[in-house]
Amino acid sequence: MDEKLLNTVYNSESFRNQGHTLIDLLANHLEKSLSGSSQKTMNWKNPEDELGLWKVFLEQGNLSDFFPQILERTIHTHNPKYVGHQVAAPAPIGALTGMIGSILNNGMAVYEMGMAPTAMERIVCDLLGERIGYDKNSRGILTSGGTLANLTALLSARKAMVDSDVWNNGLTHKLGIMVSEEAHYCVDRAAKIMGLGEVGIIKVPVTGTYTIDVEKLEPYYQEAKKNGIEVFAIVGSAPSTATGIYDDLEAIGQFAEKHNLWFHVDGAHGGAAIFSKKYEHLLNGIESSDSVVIDGHKMMMMPTITTALIYKEGKHSHTTFTQKADYLLTHTDEEDWYNGGKRTFECTKSMMSLHWYIMLKLYGEEVFDQNVTTLYDLAMEFEQLLKKDNHFELAFEPQSNILCFRYLDAGLNLEELNSINQAIRQELLEDGEFYLVQTKLRGVHYLRTTLMNPFTTTKHLSQLLEKIKSVAEKLLAKQLSQ
Ligand SMILES: Cc1ncc(COP(=O)(O)O)c(C=O)c1O
Repeated sequence: MDEKLLNTVYNSESFRNQGHTLIDLLANHLEKSLSGSSQKTMNWKNPEDELGLWKVFLEQGNLSDFFPQILERTIHTHNPKYVGHQVAAPAPIGALTGMIGSILNNGMAVYEMGMAPTAMERIVCDLLGERIGYDKNSRGILTSGGTLANLTALLSARKAMVDSDVWNNGLTHKLGIMVSEEAHYCVDRAAKIMGLGEVGIIKVPVTGTYTIDVEKLEPYYQEAKKNGIEVFAIVGSAPSTATGIYDDLEAIGQFAEKHNLWFHVDGAHGGAAIFSKKYEHLLNGIESSDSVVIDGHKMMMMPTITTALIYKEGKHSHTTFTQKADYLLTHTDEEDWYNGGKRTFECTKSMMSLHWYIMLKLYGEEVFDQNVTTLYDLAMEFEQLLKKDNHFELAFEPQSNILCFRYLDAGLNLEELNSINQAIRQELLEDGEFYLVQTKLRGVHYLRTTLMNPFTTTKHLSQLLEKIKSVAEKLLAKQLSQ
Protein backbone atom coordinates (compact mmCIF):
# COMPACT_ATOMS: atom_id res chain seq x y z
CA MET A 1 0.00 0.00 0.00
CA ASP A 2 1.26 3.46 -0.93
CA GLU A 3 1.08 5.17 2.46
CA LYS A 4 1.71 8.55 0.95
CA LEU A 5 -1.31 8.38 -1.33
CA LEU A 6 -3.75 9.83 1.17
CA ASN A 7 -1.36 12.65 1.97
CA THR A 8 -1.15 13.39 -1.74
CA VAL A 9 -4.95 13.40 -2.02
CA TYR A 10 -5.27 16.06 0.67
CA ASN A 11 -2.26 18.16 -0.28
CA SER A 12 -3.34 21.80 0.06
CA GLU A 13 -0.63 23.13 -2.27
CA SER A 14 -1.76 20.88 -5.11
CA PHE A 15 -5.29 22.09 -4.48
CA ARG A 16 -4.14 25.71 -4.67
CA ASN A 17 -2.25 25.15 -7.93
CA GLN A 18 -4.91 23.03 -9.60
CA GLY A 19 -7.55 25.53 -8.48
CA HIS A 20 -5.75 28.53 -9.92
CA THR A 21 -5.19 26.76 -13.23
CA LEU A 22 -8.81 25.69 -13.38
CA ILE A 23 -10.21 29.12 -12.56
CA ASP A 24 -8.06 30.62 -15.33
CA LEU A 25 -9.28 27.99 -17.77
CA LEU A 26 -12.92 28.55 -16.81
CA ALA A 27 -12.64 32.35 -16.93
CA ASN A 28 -11.22 32.08 -20.45
CA HIS A 29 -13.95 29.66 -21.39
CA LEU A 30 -16.58 32.03 -20.04
CA GLU A 31 -15.16 34.98 -21.94
CA LYS A 32 -15.07 33.06 -25.19
CA SER A 33 -18.50 31.48 -24.72
CA LEU A 34 -20.34 34.63 -23.72
CA SER A 35 -18.90 36.65 -26.59
CA GLY A 36 -20.28 34.07 -28.98
CA SER A 37 -16.87 33.87 -30.62
CA SER A 38 -16.80 30.07 -30.22
CA GLN A 39 -17.89 28.42 -33.42
CA LYS A 40 -19.87 25.77 -31.61
CA THR A 41 -22.22 25.40 -28.68
CA MET A 42 -21.41 21.72 -28.63
CA ASN A 43 -19.12 19.31 -30.33
CA TRP A 44 -21.46 16.40 -30.82
CA LYS A 45 -20.11 12.86 -30.52
CA ASN A 46 -22.09 9.67 -30.51
CA PRO A 47 -22.37 7.91 -27.12
CA GLU A 48 -20.23 4.89 -28.04
CA ASP A 49 -17.33 7.05 -29.27
CA GLU A 50 -17.54 9.16 -26.13
CA LEU A 51 -17.51 6.08 -23.92
CA GLY A 52 -14.50 4.69 -25.77
CA LEU A 53 -12.57 7.93 -25.43
CA TRP A 54 -12.98 8.16 -21.68
CA LYS A 55 -12.11 4.49 -21.21
CA VAL A 56 -8.84 5.07 -23.01
CA PHE A 57 -8.27 8.35 -21.20
CA LEU A 58 -8.49 6.64 -17.81
CA GLU A 59 -5.50 4.47 -18.72
CA GLN A 60 -3.50 6.67 -21.05
CA GLY A 61 -4.81 10.21 -20.98
CA ASN A 62 -2.60 13.13 -20.10
CA LEU A 63 -3.79 14.65 -16.83
CA SER A 64 -3.27 18.19 -18.08
CA ASP A 65 -5.85 17.44 -20.80
CA PHE A 66 -8.52 16.46 -18.29
CA PHE A 67 -10.26 19.81 -17.75
CA PRO A 68 -9.77 21.08 -21.34
CA GLN A 69 -11.21 17.81 -22.65
CA ILE A 70 -14.29 18.21 -20.47
CA LEU A 71 -14.83 21.67 -21.92
CA GLU A 72 -14.37 20.27 -25.40
CA ARG A 73 -16.93 17.53 -24.82
CA THR A 74 -19.79 19.25 -23.06
CA ILE A 75 -22.50 21.66 -24.05
CA HIS A 76 -21.76 25.34 -23.45
CA THR A 77 -24.74 26.97 -21.79
CA HIS A 78 -23.02 30.37 -21.81
CA ASN A 79 -22.87 30.44 -25.60
CA PRO A 80 -25.70 32.72 -26.79
CA LYS A 81 -26.51 30.10 -29.41
CA TYR A 82 -27.50 27.69 -26.64
CA VAL A 83 -31.31 27.84 -26.92
CA GLY A 84 -32.22 24.30 -25.91
CA HIS A 85 -33.16 22.95 -22.54
CA GLN A 86 -34.29 24.75 -19.43
CA VAL A 87 -31.07 24.71 -17.43
CA ALA A 88 -29.52 28.10 -16.74
CA ALA A 89 -26.31 29.60 -18.02
CA PRO A 90 -25.25 29.92 -14.40
CA ALA A 91 -23.93 33.11 -12.88
CA PRO A 92 -20.19 32.42 -12.37
CA ILE A 93 -20.42 33.20 -8.67
CA GLY A 94 -22.42 29.96 -8.38
CA ALA A 95 -19.29 28.02 -9.34
CA LEU A 96 -17.56 29.51 -6.33
CA THR A 97 -20.40 28.78 -3.91
CA GLY A 98 -20.46 25.29 -5.37
CA MET A 99 -16.76 24.98 -4.67
CA ILE A 100 -17.01 26.05 -1.04
CA GLY A 101 -19.89 23.62 -0.57
CA SER A 102 -17.84 20.82 -2.06
CA ILE A 103 -14.79 21.38 0.08
CA LEU A 104 -16.63 21.95 3.37
CA ASN A 105 -19.15 19.21 2.64
CA ASN A 106 -21.53 20.05 5.47
CA GLY A 107 -24.28 17.48 5.08
CA MET A 108 -27.17 19.74 6.15
CA ALA A 109 -29.36 17.03 7.71
CA VAL A 110 -29.02 18.50 11.20
CA TYR A 111 -28.27 22.06 12.21
CA GLU A 112 -24.69 21.56 13.34
CA MET A 113 -23.84 19.96 9.99
CA GLY A 114 -24.34 23.28 8.22
CA MET A 115 -25.05 26.16 10.57
CA ALA A 116 -24.48 29.05 8.16
CA PRO A 117 -26.19 27.48 5.13
CA THR A 118 -29.13 26.40 7.32
CA ALA A 119 -29.69 29.98 8.46
CA MET A 120 -29.35 31.16 4.86
CA GLU A 121 -31.89 28.57 3.73
CA ARG A 122 -34.43 29.97 6.19
CA ILE A 123 -33.80 33.53 4.98
CA VAL A 124 -34.12 32.56 1.31
CA CYS A 125 -37.27 30.50 1.83
CA ASP A 126 -38.90 33.23 3.93
CA LEU A 127 -38.18 35.75 1.19
CA LEU A 128 -39.65 33.48 -1.49
CA GLY A 129 -42.74 32.91 0.68
CA GLU A 130 -43.21 36.65 1.00
CA ARG A 131 -42.84 37.22 -2.76
CA ILE A 132 -45.34 34.45 -3.47
CA GLY A 133 -47.78 36.33 -1.26
CA TYR A 134 -47.84 34.02 1.76
CA ASP A 135 -47.82 35.39 5.30
CA LYS A 136 -45.38 34.82 8.15
CA ASN A 137 -46.62 31.26 8.70
CA SER A 138 -44.91 30.26 5.49
CA ARG A 139 -41.84 28.02 5.62
CA GLY A 140 -39.84 26.29 2.96
CA ILE A 141 -37.01 23.94 2.21
CA LEU A 142 -34.38 23.66 -0.47
CA THR A 143 -34.11 20.27 -2.09
CA SER A 144 -32.43 18.47 -4.97
CA GLY A 145 -34.53 19.37 -7.98
CA GLY A 146 -38.05 20.07 -9.12
CA THR A 147 -38.81 16.38 -9.49
CA LEU A 148 -38.07 15.65 -5.84
CA ALA A 149 -39.73 18.87 -4.71
CA ASN A 150 -42.98 18.04 -6.52
CA LEU A 151 -42.99 14.57 -4.97
CA THR A 152 -42.36 16.08 -1.54
CA ALA A 153 -45.18 18.59 -1.98
CA LEU A 154 -47.62 15.85 -2.98
CA LEU A 155 -46.57 13.76 0.02
CA SER A 156 -47.25 16.79 2.24
CA ALA A 157 -50.60 17.26 0.52
CA ARG A 158 -51.61 13.65 1.17
CA LYS A 159 -50.57 13.90 4.79
CA ALA A 160 -52.56 17.08 5.27
CA MET A 161 -55.72 16.28 3.32
CA VAL A 162 -56.35 12.53 3.62
CA ASP A 163 -57.89 11.30 6.87
CA SER A 164 -56.46 7.80 6.78
CA ASP A 165 -52.83 7.37 7.80
CA VAL A 166 -51.36 6.31 4.45
CA TRP A 167 -47.79 6.98 5.59
CA ASN A 168 -48.02 4.23 8.21
CA ASN A 169 -50.76 1.94 6.97
CA GLY A 170 -50.43 2.19 3.19
CA LEU A 171 -53.26 2.90 0.82
CA THR A 172 -56.65 1.72 2.03
CA HIS A 173 -58.74 3.32 -0.70
CA LYS A 174 -58.29 4.97 -4.08
CA LEU A 175 -56.65 8.39 -3.97
CA GLY A 176 -56.07 10.82 -6.80
CA ILE A 177 -54.61 14.11 -7.93
CA MET A 178 -55.70 16.39 -10.77
CA VAL A 179 -53.20 17.85 -13.18
CA SER A 180 -53.03 19.22 -16.71
CA GLU A 181 -52.25 16.71 -19.43
CA GLU A 182 -49.32 19.00 -20.33
CA ALA A 183 -47.72 18.87 -16.86
CA HIS A 184 -44.11 17.77 -16.50
CA TYR A 185 -43.77 13.98 -16.42
CA CYS A 186 -42.35 14.10 -12.90
CA VAL A 187 -45.83 14.79 -11.50
CA ASP A 188 -47.04 11.58 -13.09
CA ARG A 189 -43.99 9.80 -11.71
CA ALA A 190 -44.58 11.20 -8.21
CA ALA A 191 -48.17 9.97 -8.25
CA LYS A 192 -47.00 6.51 -9.34
CA ILE A 193 -44.39 6.42 -6.57
CA MET A 194 -47.17 7.28 -4.13
CA GLY A 195 -49.12 4.27 -5.31
CA LEU A 196 -51.98 6.23 -6.88
CA GLY A 197 -51.72 4.24 -10.10
CA GLU A 198 -52.87 5.36 -13.52
CA VAL A 199 -56.45 5.93 -12.33
CA GLY A 200 -55.22 8.24 -9.60
CA ILE A 201 -53.70 10.72 -12.04
CA ILE A 202 -56.65 12.64 -13.37
CA LYS A 203 -55.28 14.34 -16.46
CA VAL A 204 -57.32 17.38 -17.36
CA PRO A 205 -57.19 18.32 -21.06
CA VAL A 206 -55.75 21.63 -22.19
CA THR A 207 -57.43 24.23 -24.40
CA GLY A 208 -56.32 25.09 -27.93
CA THR A 209 -53.73 27.39 -26.35
CA TYR A 210 -52.27 24.63 -24.15
CA THR A 211 -53.46 25.95 -20.80
CA ILE A 212 -55.46 23.67 -18.50
CA ASP A 213 -59.13 23.75 -19.54
CA VAL A 214 -60.76 25.09 -16.39
CA GLU A 215 -64.22 24.21 -17.74
CA LYS A 216 -63.21 20.56 -17.50
CA LEU A 217 -62.14 20.67 -13.85
CA GLU A 218 -65.60 20.07 -12.39
CA PRO A 219 -66.69 17.22 -14.72
CA TYR A 220 -63.33 15.44 -14.36
CA TYR A 221 -63.50 15.79 -10.57
CA GLN A 222 -67.07 14.48 -10.44
CA GLU A 223 -66.18 11.55 -12.69
CA ALA A 224 -63.27 10.61 -10.41
CA LYS A 225 -65.53 10.83 -7.36
CA LYS A 226 -68.12 8.62 -9.07
CA ASN A 227 -65.33 6.08 -9.62
CA GLY A 228 -64.59 6.00 -5.90
CA ILE A 229 -61.43 8.12 -6.05
CA GLU A 230 -60.77 10.58 -3.25
CA VAL A 231 -59.07 13.51 -4.98
CA PHE A 232 -56.85 15.33 -2.51
CA ALA A 233 -54.73 17.68 -4.61
CA ILE A 234 -54.61 19.66 -7.81
CA VAL A 235 -51.42 20.81 -9.53
CA GLY A 236 -51.10 23.96 -11.64
CA SER A 237 -48.21 24.27 -14.07
CA ALA A 238 -46.41 27.61 -14.11
CA PRO A 239 -45.67 27.03 -16.89
CA SER A 240 -45.87 23.56 -18.42
CA THR A 241 -42.61 22.26 -19.81
CA ALA A 242 -43.20 21.53 -23.47
CA THR A 243 -45.05 24.75 -24.24
CA GLY A 244 -44.10 27.25 -21.54
CA ILE A 245 -47.79 28.15 -21.16
CA TYR A 246 -49.08 29.00 -17.68
CA ASP A 247 -52.22 27.45 -16.23
CA ASP A 248 -54.90 29.78 -14.86
CA LEU A 249 -53.84 29.69 -11.22
CA GLU A 250 -56.70 31.90 -10.06
CA ALA A 251 -59.31 29.52 -11.45
CA ILE A 252 -57.50 26.46 -10.11
CA GLY A 253 -57.23 28.11 -6.69
CA GLN A 254 -60.97 28.76 -6.60
CA PHE A 255 -61.68 25.19 -7.66
CA ALA A 256 -59.33 23.84 -4.99
CA GLU A 257 -61.03 25.92 -2.35
CA LYS A 258 -64.49 24.79 -3.40
CA HIS A 259 -63.57 21.11 -3.05
CA ASN A 260 -61.09 21.46 -0.21
CA LEU A 261 -58.12 20.24 -2.28
CA TRP A 262 -54.46 20.98 -1.74
CA PHE A 263 -53.37 23.41 -4.45
CA HIS A 264 -49.78 22.90 -5.55
CA VAL A 265 -48.04 25.11 -8.12
CA ASP A 266 -45.27 23.53 -10.14
CA GLY A 267 -43.30 26.71 -10.87
CA ALA A 268 -40.05 24.81 -11.43
CA HIS A 269 -39.48 26.76 -14.62
CA GLY A 270 -41.48 29.97 -14.41
CA GLY A 271 -42.17 30.47 -10.70
CA ALA A 272 -39.23 32.88 -10.80
CA ALA A 273 -41.55 35.33 -12.59
CA ILE A 274 -42.71 36.40 -9.10
CA PHE A 275 -39.67 38.69 -9.35
CA SER A 276 -40.55 40.17 -12.74
CA LYS A 277 -42.61 43.34 -12.52
CA LYS A 278 -43.59 42.88 -16.16
CA TYR A 279 -44.52 39.19 -16.06
CA GLU A 280 -45.60 38.48 -12.48
CA HIS A 281 -49.22 38.72 -13.66
CA LEU A 282 -48.76 35.28 -15.24
CA LEU A 283 -48.71 33.96 -11.69
CA ASN A 284 -51.88 35.71 -10.51
CA GLY A 285 -53.53 33.40 -8.01
CA ILE A 286 -50.30 31.80 -6.83
CA GLU A 287 -50.88 33.33 -3.39
CA SER A 288 -53.93 31.10 -2.93
CA SER A 289 -51.83 27.94 -3.33
CA ASP A 290 -50.71 25.66 -0.50
CA SER A 291 -47.26 25.00 -1.93
CA VAL A 292 -45.00 26.21 -4.72
CA VAL A 293 -41.88 24.76 -6.34
CA ILE A 294 -39.26 27.03 -7.95
CA ASP A 295 -36.00 25.77 -9.45
CA GLY A 296 -32.91 27.87 -8.80
CA HIS A 297 -31.07 26.16 -11.67
CA LYS A 298 -33.58 27.18 -14.32
CA MET A 299 -34.67 30.82 -14.43
CA MET A 300 -32.68 31.93 -11.40
CA MET A 301 -29.19 31.56 -12.86
CA MET A 302 -27.90 28.99 -10.39
CA PRO A 303 -25.92 25.82 -11.03
CA THR A 304 -27.66 22.46 -10.80
CA ILE A 305 -29.27 21.43 -8.65
CA THR A 306 -31.31 23.47 -6.23
CA THR A 307 -35.04 23.84 -5.80
CA ALA A 308 -37.17 25.73 -3.33
CA LEU A 309 -40.36 24.14 -2.04
CA ILE A 310 -42.36 26.79 -0.22
CA TYR A 311 -45.44 26.08 1.91
CA LYS A 312 -48.17 28.52 2.79
CA GLU A 313 -48.52 26.88 6.20
CA GLY A 314 -45.11 26.00 7.51
CA LYS A 315 -46.45 23.24 9.74
CA HIS A 316 -47.04 21.08 6.67
CA SER A 317 -43.36 21.14 5.85
CA HIS A 318 -42.67 19.64 9.27
CA THR A 319 -45.09 16.76 8.98
CA THR A 320 -44.43 15.28 5.55
CA PHE A 321 -42.16 12.53 6.78
CA THR A 322 -43.37 12.19 10.37
CA GLN A 323 -45.81 10.02 12.29
CA LYS A 324 -49.37 11.24 12.43
CA ALA A 325 -48.99 11.78 16.17
CA ASP A 326 -46.33 14.39 15.50
CA TYR A 327 -48.65 16.35 13.30
CA LEU A 328 -49.43 19.15 15.69
CA LEU A 329 -46.63 20.82 17.50
CA THR A 330 -47.73 21.63 21.04
CA HIS A 331 -47.49 25.21 22.19
CA THR A 332 -44.44 24.43 24.26
CA ASP A 333 -42.59 22.73 21.44
CA GLU A 334 -39.97 24.83 19.73
CA GLU A 335 -40.20 24.77 15.96
CA ASP A 336 -36.91 23.21 14.91
CA TRP A 337 -36.81 24.75 11.46
CA TYR A 338 -33.04 24.32 11.60
CA ASN A 339 -32.99 20.51 11.46
CA GLY A 340 -33.49 20.30 7.70
CA GLY A 341 -33.27 16.53 7.36
CA LYS A 342 -36.62 16.09 9.08
CA ARG A 343 -38.33 18.03 6.33
CA THR A 344 -36.45 17.01 3.19
CA PHE A 345 -36.49 13.78 1.25
CA GLU A 346 -32.72 13.77 1.37
CA CYS A 347 -30.75 12.95 4.48
CA THR A 348 -27.53 14.51 3.21
CA LYS A 349 -27.89 17.34 0.74
CA SER A 350 -25.52 19.93 -0.66
CA MET A 351 -25.08 23.41 0.83
CA MET A 352 -27.31 24.74 -1.91
CA SER A 353 -28.61 27.77 -0.03
CA LEU A 354 -25.23 29.44 -0.66
CA HIS A 355 -26.17 29.90 -4.33
CA TRP A 356 -29.40 31.70 -3.49
CA TYR A 357 -28.00 33.80 -0.69
CA ILE A 358 -24.97 35.07 -2.60
CA MET A 359 -27.12 36.09 -5.59
CA LEU A 360 -29.28 38.16 -3.24
CA LYS A 361 -26.30 39.58 -1.41
CA LEU A 362 -24.30 40.50 -4.52
CA TYR A 363 -27.01 41.53 -6.95
CA GLY A 364 -30.30 41.78 -5.06
CA GLU A 365 -33.74 40.59 -6.20
CA GLU A 366 -33.41 42.91 -9.21
CA VAL A 367 -31.16 40.36 -10.92
CA PHE A 368 -34.00 37.81 -11.03
CA ASP A 369 -36.37 40.43 -12.44
CA GLN A 370 -33.82 41.32 -15.13
CA ASN A 371 -33.14 37.72 -16.09
CA VAL A 372 -36.78 36.64 -16.35
CA THR A 373 -37.91 39.86 -18.04
CA THR A 374 -35.03 39.84 -20.55
CA LEU A 375 -35.63 36.22 -21.53
CA TYR A 376 -39.43 36.49 -21.75
CA ASP A 377 -39.10 39.73 -23.78
CA LEU A 378 -36.67 38.02 -26.13
CA ALA A 379 -39.21 35.26 -26.73
CA MET A 380 -41.79 37.86 -27.78
CA GLU A 381 -39.24 39.31 -30.24
CA PHE A 382 -38.47 35.85 -31.58
CA GLU A 383 -42.20 35.31 -32.04
CA GLN A 384 -42.30 38.39 -34.31
CA LEU A 385 -39.33 37.13 -36.35
CA LEU A 386 -41.05 33.80 -36.86
CA LYS A 387 -44.35 35.38 -37.80
CA LYS A 388 -42.65 37.47 -40.48
CA ASP A 389 -41.13 34.47 -42.21
CA ASN A 390 -43.52 32.21 -44.11
CA HIS A 391 -41.05 29.32 -43.91
CA PHE A 392 -42.03 28.94 -40.26
CA GLU A 393 -45.13 28.28 -38.22
CA LEU A 394 -45.49 28.82 -34.49
CA ALA A 395 -47.30 26.17 -32.44
CA PHE A 396 -48.83 28.86 -30.20
CA GLU A 397 -48.24 32.41 -29.01
CA PRO A 398 -45.53 32.19 -26.33
CA GLN A 399 -46.10 33.38 -22.78
CA SER A 400 -42.63 32.64 -21.49
CA ASN A 401 -39.18 31.96 -22.94
CA ILE A 402 -40.23 28.61 -24.45
CA LEU A 403 -41.19 28.63 -28.14
CA CYS A 404 -42.21 25.78 -30.38
CA PHE A 405 -42.20 26.25 -34.14
CA ARG A 406 -41.63 24.24 -37.27
CA TYR A 407 -40.19 24.63 -40.70
CA LEU A 408 -42.91 24.75 -43.37
CA ASP A 409 -42.91 23.86 -47.01
CA ALA A 410 -46.17 24.12 -48.92
CA GLY A 411 -45.34 21.04 -50.97
CA LEU A 412 -45.09 18.68 -47.97
CA ASN A 413 -47.83 16.84 -46.08
CA LEU A 414 -47.95 16.42 -42.28
CA GLU A 415 -45.91 13.25 -42.23
CA GLU A 416 -43.24 14.70 -44.50
CA LEU A 417 -43.13 17.91 -42.47
CA ASN A 418 -42.73 15.90 -39.27
CA SER A 419 -39.84 13.97 -40.71
CA ILE A 420 -38.11 17.03 -42.19
CA ASN A 421 -38.34 18.88 -38.87
CA GLN A 422 -36.95 15.85 -37.08
CA ALA A 423 -34.11 15.66 -39.60
CA ILE A 424 -33.40 19.39 -39.21
CA ARG A 425 -33.04 19.01 -35.47
CA GLN A 426 -30.63 16.07 -35.91
CA GLU A 427 -28.54 18.02 -38.44
CA LEU A 428 -28.37 21.00 -36.07
CA LEU A 429 -27.33 18.75 -33.19
CA GLU A 430 -24.50 17.25 -35.19
CA ASP A 431 -23.50 20.63 -36.62
CA GLY A 432 -23.19 22.04 -33.10
CA GLU A 433 -23.31 25.78 -33.81
CA PHE A 434 -26.76 26.12 -32.23
CA TYR A 435 -28.38 23.87 -29.69
CA LEU A 436 -32.14 23.51 -29.70
CA VAL A 437 -34.50 20.64 -28.91
CA GLN A 438 -37.77 19.25 -30.23
CA THR A 439 -41.22 18.18 -29.07
CA LYS A 440 -44.39 16.68 -30.46
CA LEU A 441 -47.70 18.44 -29.84
CA ARG A 442 -50.94 16.82 -31.02
CA GLY A 443 -49.09 14.69 -33.54
CA VAL A 444 -47.10 17.60 -35.01
CA HIS A 445 -43.32 17.66 -34.72
CA TYR A 446 -41.92 21.02 -33.57
CA LEU A 447 -38.51 22.49 -32.98
CA ARG A 448 -38.40 23.80 -29.42
CA THR A 449 -36.27 26.59 -28.05
CA THR A 450 -35.92 27.73 -24.47
CA LEU A 451 -34.14 31.07 -24.38
CA MET A 452 -32.06 30.66 -21.24
CA ASN A 453 -29.08 32.82 -22.01
CA PRO A 454 -29.62 36.55 -21.40
CA PHE A 455 -26.92 37.32 -23.97
CA THR A 456 -28.83 35.71 -26.82
CA THR A 457 -30.10 38.44 -29.16
CA THR A 458 -32.47 38.62 -32.11
CA LYS A 459 -29.37 38.63 -34.31
CA HIS A 460 -28.47 35.14 -33.07
CA LEU A 461 -32.07 34.04 -33.53
CA SER A 462 -32.18 35.37 -37.10
CA GLN A 463 -28.98 33.44 -37.80
CA LEU A 464 -30.66 30.35 -36.38
CA LEU A 465 -33.63 30.73 -38.73
CA GLU A 466 -31.33 31.22 -41.72
CA LYS A 467 -29.41 28.12 -40.72
CA ILE A 468 -32.61 26.08 -40.40
CA LYS A 469 -33.69 27.17 -43.86
CA SER A 470 -30.39 26.26 -45.45
CA VAL A 471 -30.35 22.87 -43.67
CA ALA A 472 -33.93 22.23 -44.83
CA GLU A 473 -33.09 23.14 -48.41
CA LYS A 474 -30.15 20.75 -48.40
CA LEU A 475 -32.24 17.96 -46.91
CA LEU A 476 -35.02 18.50 -49.45
CA ALA A 477 -32.56 18.62 -52.35
CA LYS A 478 -31.02 15.35 -51.12
CA GLN A 479 -34.45 13.73 -50.94
CA LEU A 480 -35.26 14.85 -54.49
CA SER A 481 -32.03 13.44 -55.85
CA GLN A 482 -32.68 9.99 -54.32
C1 LIG B 1 -42.57 22.38 -14.99
C2 LIG B 1 -41.44 21.48 -14.55
N1 LIG B 1 -41.57 20.76 -13.43
C3 LIG B 1 -40.59 19.97 -12.99
C4 LIG B 1 -39.42 19.82 -13.69
C5 LIG B 1 -38.35 18.89 -13.18
O1 LIG B 1 -37.41 19.66 -12.52
P1 LIG B 1 -35.91 19.10 -12.24
O2 LIG B 1 -35.31 18.93 -13.58
O3 LIG B 1 -35.30 20.20 -11.44
O4 LIG B 1 -36.05 17.83 -11.49
C6 LIG B 1 -39.24 20.53 -14.88
C7 LIG B 1 -38.01 20.37 -15.68
O5 LIG B 1 -37.89 20.76 -16.78
C8 LIG B 1 -40.27 21.39 -15.32
O6 LIG B 1 -40.16 22.10 -16.44
